Amino acid sequence: MNNTEHPAPLSPQVCRGLIEAAGKAPSADNNQPWSFRCVDDAVQVFHRRERGLSADVCDLFSWIAVGAAIENLVLAASANSLAADVQYHDRPFAVSADGERIATVRLRSGGTPDSLHAFISERVTNRRLYRRNPLSATENANLHATVRDPDSHLYLLSERSDLKKLSQLMFQADRVRFEHQPFHEEFHKALRYNANEAQQARDGLDVNTLELPPLAGPLLRWLRPWKRMRLANRFGMSRSFARYSVKQMLRSAAVGLLTTSERSDPSYLEAGRSLQRIWLTATAQGLAFQPLGSLPLFLTRLEVQQTNGLAPRHVARLRELVEPFDALFPAARGQAPVMLFRVGRSRPPSARSIRFPLNQIDAGE
Ligand SMILES: Cc1cc2nc3c(=O)[nH]c(=O)nc-3n(C[C@H](O)[C@H](O)[C@H](O)COP(=O)(O)O)c2cc1C
Repeated sequence: MNNTEHPAPLSPQVCRGLIEAAGKAPSADNNQPWSFRCVDDAVQVFHRRERGLSADVCDLFSWIAVGAAIENLVLAASANSLAADVQYHDRPFAVSADGERIATVRLRSGGTPDSLHAFISERVTNRRLYRRNPLSATENANLHATVRDPDSHLYLLSERSDLKKLSQLMFQADRVRFEHQPFHEEFHKALRYNANEAQQARDGLDVNTLELPPLAGPLLRWLRPWKRMRLANRFGMSRSFARYSVKQMLRSAAVGLLTTSERSDPSYLEAGRSLQRIWLTATAQGLAFQPLGSLPLFLTRLEVQQTNGLAPRHVARLRELVEPFDALFPAARGQAPVMLFRVGRSRPPSARSIRFPLNQIDAGE
């Protein structure tokens, strides 16, 4: 700390602003697995494990979301001319009624505003079909340059032949998603079948954000009981759903893979921060963005050998994806996959997701 930097006790107003920004982060199925508490010059960051996805492995999805929330917090602090030191805590995490204490963000005066802050509210998941025209060299370079964590690595594919190969891998991974009962049930637990339900719950996936073809929404609802879905899968339903992911990937300017050097809680949290910076940088350039979580999560599951519960034919199908995936991203071999995403130009999404009210995520209120 130099002479011009001092610990900054946070006023209630600044604290509220920081937590509000953090809560606008993306999360898997919009599960918002976080809460925050201001104490003196710091914001404590908690993981609400009960809100995490049961399909998660090594807490990957939770850490991406909490990491993205931390990045928002740090950016919002920078807009208040506050500099942040993020400290990650070790396991076993301290547990209280607020959740598991994952990190403490200490704030001091002397910060420089980061312009990405202006895009926190604008950032959104856009699941529309995008235009195919490639990213410009500047857009491409900006996405790479925004990553600050030395252990986060970004790879972008834009050759049509590569996107085609990758879309086939996604197809197989998504089929497993729709053919495995626990994944099916978790997805439907998160689905909000109309805007009213989404408004009441303030979490989960509003079906209107999914940009589904006409009638797919009511069909999804009808298929909620596993018995129906299982029967429909015999007639190719999982293939039809997965085919839509293929189409989405092909209708993109590029697909990105974010990896981290090692598989650990702080690395995943830092990668979540990197993903958020990439997403905000895409937003700043007018680019649409959609994370594609299933393939990286399945690959992680295989790597850490957490395949129990999956049918042997699904495990076999997933294993066949490893080699072709590595061939598409040769430089990422040996690194831990974090997230795939598609990026491109598109109209804005039809709907936006909702968040919990501030008093539900501000443990100090
Ligand atoms: C870890 C993680 C995994 C995600 N996986 C997917 C995915 O596989 N497909 C998808 O369409 N969106 C995915 N999302 C986007 C979330 O559904 C989205 O962030 C959430 O619903 C909130 O909406 P918003 O991003 O528009 O604020 C993922 C987000 C995160 C953080």
